[in-house]
Amino acid sequence: MTSLSQLTTPDRAHADAPGSSTDVLGTHVQRARSAVLEEQIRAEPGRFRVLTGDRPTGRLHLGHYFGTLHNRVRLQNLGVETYVLIADYQVLTDRDVADDMAGHVEGLLLDYLAIGVDPARSTVFTHSAVPALNQLLLPFLSLVSVAELSRNPTVKDEIAHSRQSSVSGLMFTYPVHQAADILFCKGNLVPVGQDQLPHLDITRTIARRFNDRYGAGATVFPQPDALLSPAPLLLGTDGAKMSKSRGNAIALAAGADETARLIKGARTDSERHITYDPANRPEVSSLLLLAALCQDRTPDDVAADIGSAGAAALKRVVTEAVNEYLAPVRARRAQYAQDRGHLRAILREGNERANAVADSTLTEVRTVMNNRY
Ligand code: TRP
Repeated sequence: MTSLSQLTTPDRAHADAPGSSTDVLGTHVQRARSAVLEEQIRAEPGRFRVLTGDRPTGRLHLGHYFGTLHNRVRLQNLGVETYVLIADYQVLTDRDVADDMAGHVEGLLLDYLAIGVDPARSTVFTHSAVPALNQLLLPFLSLVSVAELSRNPTVKDEIAHSRQSSVSGLMFTYPVHQAADILFCKGNLVPVGQDQLPHLDITRTIARRFNDRYGAGATVFPQPDALLSPAPLLLGTDGAKMSKSRGNAIALAAGADETARLIKGARTDSERHITYDPANRPEVSSLLLLAALCQDRTPDDVAADIGSAGAAALKRVVTEAVNEYLAPVRARRAQYAQDRGHLRAILREGNERANAVADSTLTEVRTVMNNRY
């Protein structure tokens, strides 16, 4: 599946992967580095601390799942200490008011638990409940220039796609906030999609400058690595990239009937013989890929089984594969959803753990910055 591993699914709804040749080269380097990291993780999982997260803006879908979510659970299960951030303050980057925040936070937590995030091993927490994390933003902002912030290709792309009439200060500076997200717990491994690489660069720059300026020779913050998952690009049911905001996604929380309906309405082409040919038949190929990922086979294999039976048969195969794959995920989600008190307790405990870590890091930061009065 080498050809699949060269594609990634960007995390953000609007961010198309930055496309200049230097970005492609940078991604190549990151990919090679990720392979080295994978070996080190297997050998010594205890050396790593993962921090990653999502904005609570809607239901997670299969693009997210095969893009990054399953990679987190894999790392957790390998024994890597894992922090999962529900980035509620980051929702306000591209909108003025966040609708139904509590509902989205609960939905995201349910999605996490459903896919196997284990609250006994992973710390799930929200920005807004961890004041010391947010306070790191202030010294960190002093370590980057406005020119550096304005060069960030992912932010530029998001500003270009924003429906807001003006760019907020938070939109412009959220990559620095993201550095605080990662560094408050001294995370050194960040499993992300390609669109997040510029943010990781800023995080590394901030860690390095902080250490140089205040560390007196010691390392206060690690320079975290991005871990790119070999994530294939899944298209939505309309043939465009699967995304929350386009209404073309199959949510993890979707029921079996809703899934069947969505796949039935998916765009295909008029060629009866089914083949895996992403360049010329993107819609058919994406459906084949989806079935293949669910069944742990190659898309060519799935295509060969269908042969000349046409798009209707393809859709039947995909629906069955997805529904079978998601059945245990949905069952776990439904079970957790029954006990909201338990859900709140999981989040409260995660926030408590995150606060303890953030308080200790902030104390260290105030000490080295000579801010203890
Ligand atoms: N920007 C990420 C996204 O939209 C979410 C996020 C916030 C994040 N803070 C982070 C991801 C820190 C990794 C590390 O998907």
